[in-house]
Amino acid sequence: MSNSLRVGIAGLGTVGTSLVHLLQDKSDLLADRCGRPLVITGVTARSKEKERGLSLDGVTWFDDPLALATDDNSDVFVELIGGDGEPAYGAVKAALESGKHVVTANKALLAKHGVELAEIAESKGLLLNYESAVAGGIPIIKVMRESLTANTVTRISGILNGTCNYILTRMEDEGMSFEDCLKDAQDLGFAEADPTFDIEGNDTAHKLAILTSLAFGTAIAPDAIYLEGITRISIEDIEAAKDLGYRIKLLGIATKTASGVESRVHPAMVPLGSAIAEIGGVTNAVSVEADTVGSLMMSGPGAGGDATASAVAGDLCDIAKSRPGHQHGPALGQPAQSLMPHERAPMRSHEGGYFIRLTVKDQPGTMAAIATRMAEQSISLESIVQRRARGELESEQAPIILITHETTEQSIREALKGVREDGCLFGEPQMIRIESLG
Ligand code: HSE
Repeated sequence: MSNSLRVGIAGLGTVGTSLVHLLQDKSDLLADRCGRPLVITGVTARSKEKERGLSLDGVTWFDDPLALATDDNSDVFVELIGGDGEPAYGAVKAALESGKHVVTANKALLAKHGVELAEIAESKGLLLNYESAVAGGIPIIKVMRESLTANTVTRISGILNGTCNYILTRMEDEGMSFEDCLKDAQDLGFAEADPTFDIEGNDTAHKLAILTSLAFGTAIAPDAIYLEGITRISIEDIEAAKDLGYRIKLLGIATKTASGVESRVHPAMVPLGSAIAEIGGVTNAVSVEADTVGSLMMSGPGAGGDATASAVAGDLCDIAKSRPGHQHGPALGQPAQSLMPHERAPMRSHEGGYFIRLTVKDQPGTMAAIATRMAEQSISLESIVQRRARGELESEQAPIILITHETTEQSIREALKGVREDGCLFGEPQMIRIESLG
């Protein structure tokens, strides 16, 4: 049809396959809602031979993503390849430079090159849409880019990685091992091609970097994020958290402070019964604190083919509904050239409560030595308890759990350095920050 929106799709993995099904199965509904049909004209993927259960009759196959990106027979380039380098970067740039709108689910690419790509899109009057890049099916980009324009945001935070939340939930609910939970998340299509990006927190950091830019009008700065993943979280931590009235979640948090933006990704203890603690499985949640609207929180599926394809299709529909000559809104919510430099607040000045789990020598004076090191740093303890040792500890070893009142990261690090120097510690201390969000 002459007025159709012609779509080229690069990448036919979990999301690409779901997107093709969605655009084909709901073609009439989408055409009605957009006022014109969305037609897939070209696709490219690593392997042409792979059986995907797709019907691609009449769709041109491209071996080279760059050729699809610059193909005259499409209006939009959908990038579902992933990764911050080639071929995704070159293909997206080429698509924009050749006058095509772009829809991408690629948070790693946007975290690294988002400002440059936004500038190109703006200079050409094109849309660069990326709803699916952050929190899967949750429409948080639209909210940040459009709905909250009149607000000054003070904090944006949330559970931004479905794989990690799925792993932590099943470890707690079913006592499953970390490895088995990760394997299931991979089988369900939640995890990244390289799952270390999920479990080491990089994926959350990429998403937080994008949200931080939208929230504070600053350049995207993925390297300014303090980063810890969930690989050091053990069943002991999860059980101790529960006993103390907390649940462990991998959070991404960006807060405006007097000394800049404090951006961090790390496991955190959240109070049982709080809204964020109730977000289980692959579900994500994003909360925003802002001056005019107050606090809001959105939750929904954060990964998986259909949820992510839903967001990609929504982005395509926005493009289908726009008209040539219409001035499109800037990709990062404001003109890319007007973004402020990102000023990073140092992590050592972070203030909050802390959970600390130590394995120590089970002998007289150990508790007193630990308490002394805490007191030296003016850290006030809410509780200090010796827990019953689990099977794998030697008889002279004892697990100690401390919960502190609000203090600074600098003080905690100094106190733990002192405990280490006292020579009563086995292994590395576990330190998990306590958060109360929303
Ligand atoms: N691997 C990601 C996750 C996919 O688990 O959340 C969605 O970005």
